[in-house]
Amino acid sequence: MAHVYVEEIGKHVGQEVTLKGWLYNKTDKGRLRFLLVRDGTGVIQCVVFQKAVSPEVFEAVDRLTQESSLTVTGTVRAEQRAPGGYELDVKDLTVVHLSEPYPITPKEHGTAFLMENRHLWLRSNRQHAILRIRDEIIKGCRDFFDDNGFVLVDTPIITPAACEGTTTLFPLDYFGEKAFLTQSGQLYNEANCMALGKVYCFGPTFRAEKSKTRRHLTEFWMIEPEVAFAELEDIMNLAEGLISYLVRRVLDSRQEELKRIERDMSALEKVVPPFPRISYAEAFDILEKEGTETARGSDLGAPDETIISSRFDRPVMVHRYPKEVKAFYMQPDPENPALAMCVDVLAPEGYGEIIGGSQRIHDHDLLLARIREHNLPIEAFQWYLDLRKYGSVPHSGFGMGIERVVAWICGIEHVRETIPYPRMLYKIYP
Ligand code: 4AD
Ligand code: MG
Repeated sequence: MAHVYVEEIGKHVGQEVTLKGWLYNKTDKGRLRFLLVRDGTGVIQCVVFQKAVSPEVFEAVDRLTQESSLTVTGTVRAEQRAPGGYELDVKDLTVVHLSEPYPITPKEHGTAFLMENRHLWLRSNRQHAILRIRDEIIKGCRDFFDDNGFVLVDTPIITPAACEGTTTLFPLDYFGEKAFLTQSGQLYNEANCMALGKVYCFGPTFRAEKSKTRRHLTEFWMIEPEVAFAELEDIMNLAEGLISYLVRRVLDSRQEELKRIERDMSALEKVVPPFPRISYAEAFDILEKEGTETARGSDLGAPDETIISSRFDRPVMVHRYPKEVKAFYMQPDPENPALAMCVDVLAPEGYGEIIGGSQRIHDHDLLLARIREHNLPIEAFQWYLDLRKYGSVPHSGFGMGIERVVAWICGIEHVRETIPYPRMLYKIYP
């Protein structure tokens, strides 16, 4: 019998098919057994009528435990009242493995327990939906850049130097030499864009974040475009294009999943260009009126980002922060060198920063002076300084954290549910 996936079941109405999956839930009603079977692509109700199967099969069905694996054969029937629109009238069923009592039952469980069982929690309806949306967002990022003439160029994970400050580095011993897990592919992206024009990298990045918040992971995935000859405004436009494309794509292709996790889709429908753009100075005018505790001149805290983003119904781009609160490589504003030509994109509904980017310093001596000011080891940056010796050009790029974007688009509270196996402070199991 042809094996089909639940996702494709609609093409087989009236036909006999075999499904392979796991028992999600079971209910009894007289001589009927209703099996909710999931196969990774979807969930379908399989109806077992005592008289339609052999006594052995009916007994096997009665012994089935939650998460037992099975193959089931039957006829597909359109059923408007069923969740996916179809049901299977069962003719035969084989148990592949009878599951031991499953720890995650349909009742409510605490987060700590679910996190300990993350390897099993992934099978639940809600986690399933989030992972499908994450996949769609990643595919969307790749398509967006590929369709806009960018080249994917991979950057290394093991690196000799810091990119985003020395306080969040994960050190490792590299044959007796000190090395670090990468915080960002940016510095290599800069070299790559001088070779290929428009590039992006996509991979895991690492930060030894010592704070416990709902938006910080120690291992997260970042997509980073870098464009030769681009200035700050160009990459602001690029960020706006990317975000609005991703939201539209998820609304169009993952509607069923958004519904399942009860996302307010009307909020997402508003995410269309143009996005508001305000300077750091303007952001502080707002914050001071609202009575922030943060002093003008310092970096925005999470509550500040919430205040600002709650003023707008779409992502807001905050540009030109004081250079002191930003990374060493940022180009100074020609109109006020105390400001960096940078942008943070803050997502609405209190989600805060999802993108950080900037125009990069292209002058050799200025970059060298910044590396010194930041007490960074010059030897490790020689190759990076080279880029300013051989045909240097203005260039810009940004990094977008996938988990923060997934959290926002899904409307979920904490980034721990946006990545299959979250790594957080003191959390590395499973
Ligand atoms: O603002 P960040 O630190 O910028 C960079 O790393 C630049 N080098 C990127 C570039 O210009 N190519 O990080 C960029 C984004 C943030 O806006 C956020 O979405 C995400 O990466 N991010 C984190 N996500 C989860 N957990 C963390 N600890 C994160 N730190 C940054
Ligand atoms: Mg940032």
